[in-house]
Amino acid sequence: NAVIGSVRTVVGWLPERWLPGGSPDPLIGRHGEVGRQLGHLDGPLKVTGAARFAAEVPLEQLCHAALVHSPVARGRIATLDTRAAEAAPGVVLVLTHRTMPRLEPVPLISITNMTAVGNSALPILQDPEIRYNGQVVALVLAETPQQADFAASLIDISYDEAPARTRFEAAKPQARTPASILVERNEEAVGDAEAALRQSAFQVDAIYTTPGHNHAAIEPHAVTAAWTGDRLVLHDATQAIAPTAAALAKLFDIRREDVRVLSPFVGGGFGAKGFWDHHVLAVAAARLVRRPVRLVLSREAVFRMVGGRSPTEQRVALAAEAGGRFTALIHTGYSVMPPYGACPEQYTLGSRALYRAQNVRFGQKHLDLDVVPNTYMRAPGEAVGSFALESAVDELAHQMSMDPIELRLRNDPEVHPLSGIPFSQRALAEAYRQGAEAFGWAARNATPRTRREGEWLLGMGCATGSFPYVRMPAGAVRIRLTRDGRASVACSAQDMGMGTATVQSQHAADRLGLPLAAVSFEMGDSDLPPAPMAGGSGQTVSIVAAVAAAATKLTGELLRLAGNASPLAGLRAGEVRLQEGGLVSLADPARRDSFDAILSRAGREDITVTESAAAPLEMFKYAMQSQSANFCDLRVSAVTGEIRITRLLGVFDVGTILNPRTAASQLRGGMIMGLGMALSEEVLFDERSGRIMNAGLADYHIPAHLDIPEIDVRWTGIPDPRSPLGARGIGEIAITGVAAAIANAVFNATGTRLRDLPLTLDKLL
Ligand code: MOS
Repeated sequence: NAVIGSVRTVVGWLPERWLPGGSPDPLIGRHGEVGRQLGHLDGPLKVTGAARFAAEVPLEQLCHAALVHSPVARGRIATLDTRAAEAAPGVVLVLTHRTMPRLEPVPLISITNMTAVGNSALPILQDPEIRYNGQVVALVLAETPQQADFAASLIDISYDEAPARTRFEAAKPQARTPASILVERNEEAVGDAEAALRQSAFQVDAIYTTPGHNHAAIEPHAVTAAWTGDRLVLHDATQAIAPTAAALAKLFDIRREDVRVLSPFVGGGFGAKGFWDHHVLAVAAARLVRRPVRLVLSREAVFRMVGGRSPTEQRVALAAEAGGRFTALIHTGYSVMPPYGACPEQYTLGSRALYRAQNVRFGQKHLDLDVVPNTYMRAPGEAVGSFALESAVDELAHQMSMDPIELRLRNDPEVHPLSGIPFSQRALAEAYRQGAEAFGWAARNATPRTRREGEWLLGMGCATGSFPYVRMPAGAVRIRLTRDGRASVACSAQDMGMGTATVQSQHAADRLGLPLAAVSFEMGDSDLPPAPMAGGSGQTVSIVAAVAAAATKLTGELLRLAGNASPLAGLRAGEVRLQEGGLVSLADPARRDSFDAILSRAGREDITVTESAAAPLEMFKYAMQSQSANFCDLRVSAVTGEIRITRLLGVFDVGTILNPRTAASQLRGGMIMGLGMALSEEVLFDERSGRIMNAGLADYHIPAHLDIPEIDVRWTGIPDPRSPLGARGIGEIAITGVAAAIANAVFNATGTRLRDLPLTLDKLL
């Protein structure tokens, strides 16, 4: 925190032009391939089945792993009998805490340390202690997955149970107040919000709850690990290729260059495709048996040992004077974060940037429960925080008989409300204007329970979503340019399905002044220059910045090679641009030299540069925040309480859109995840045993096609002048605000205010 504060102060003093990226990216508004509708370049590989995922790589001598999970939440293993399992057909190895190699703990995920990737600081099969229900207590390797599963069922374990902390309510008196939530200070206060709340003419003061949410990517976590001597190749489904390679090298005490992590395709990753126990288990087992090992988590295992979002209990209090200006905003609450976890589920973070209020108070408390550590899940914090905040805004608007959009815009801040730093770009009002018009907001009747069709009560609602801009500091890319005017751009980027190679190819084509067909983007391999993890919606801009830096370096090297015989002789890198297969003078476009001519004169076939991006100082100089306006049209059965969504519409103020098709798809997917959060997703946790009761998709309900309505996705398209290419990231924002828009529409339809997710029909009867 202190570090962030000082960086902000120092950077705030720097003149604009001294900042890397201080002057806007020259490619903003000047691009050609960027912004063009283009299908996924690897789409044909996927739809024909040619793409090989981590669990599909064919290897000789492969053996398959199965896991055993603890059925108790706390205690220690008392007796352990593996003889029957070892004697079962096809069994190659049974690994328990007795036979597992001794390993250092995994370094935890951290925003500021890109080589740390672990979700949990707990030891992995290092001792007989049980720390949560679902913890892995044994691994079985066999010739087939079926043999491994069967043998795992034969392991006989008894436990000495100890009292476990598994009750949310009971843990509150011992709640911890962390100093920070990610990179922000946790507790913030301006003025006396409680006093302002008591004195204001209008106020809402309510508790909102959200249940645990579990990761449910279509592809469960999977690794295939193969050692050759002291060299390791890991086929992985990961959002963090380079950090995983670095962590494995450290844990298994081998050189970084002797680890290769390959992850060309990932079947969905929403924060959980990082580094989990299964990496360590599979790699250790493969080393012991000197055979390749495949470990695919069952759907149940994803619930037991990967987990997801913490449950939250949030208080939001809002007060306003008659004109609508907020006099108080309080957002506090409880979530679970065991001390061995890394994700603070920062649900108050969005509230700090969204509204101007005279008096504010923010703060989060953590409960230490003996549970699978909660983890990052699409818009950690904002996804559930926006449900509470934006429900409360709607409640206040109703109380004041004011249009909820109007109330929001009257409190739209000009600068970041806490830091006072200027926003780089912010057009929430424009998003609402576009959204209200396209949606037909004017048709809404503000009085609840007034529109009806037969048994169906009709309602409309809206809510704001938000997510910060993140550009990650580490990372490099390599560009190889050949004489025939082709470029290959490479780094260890990740693609969880959003189209990384597609948009980066579009960008590289524009940046290098080449047609799309002349550019290739290599990724998914830790032997390539290291990319930061795909997280925080920051991968795209992080790589764009590195490509831009490499392109600048390439320009300099080409000029140097061009020499005195070139029409560009005497010009410096800042005086030319890469365009149409060569370098062109900015001042005099008639002065140009093609890549072919430059490399031919120099007697070269190709030129290669590798470069990293400058530090993301723009994040400190400006408040960089994306926002969205969400609208929902729905009906509720007056007979059964069943909610049916008719339409969703989202307008996103997220900077430049790199590819309308892949972006719309990603934004629509995020809104669907928000719909699931609103209506059905809920981890059912038995507080007596600490056991998740619905560990599987049969009982943990994500939206199916029939639950999903027409979803209209739009954007303001206004570039952010402070970010590479004017883009600000779209991976996470779309889940935010959706649940509140739905809950607000339910109120409009029924007159019943639901403050507890999911919005199931029993709560409406
Ligand atoms: Mo995200 S929750 O940073 O994948």
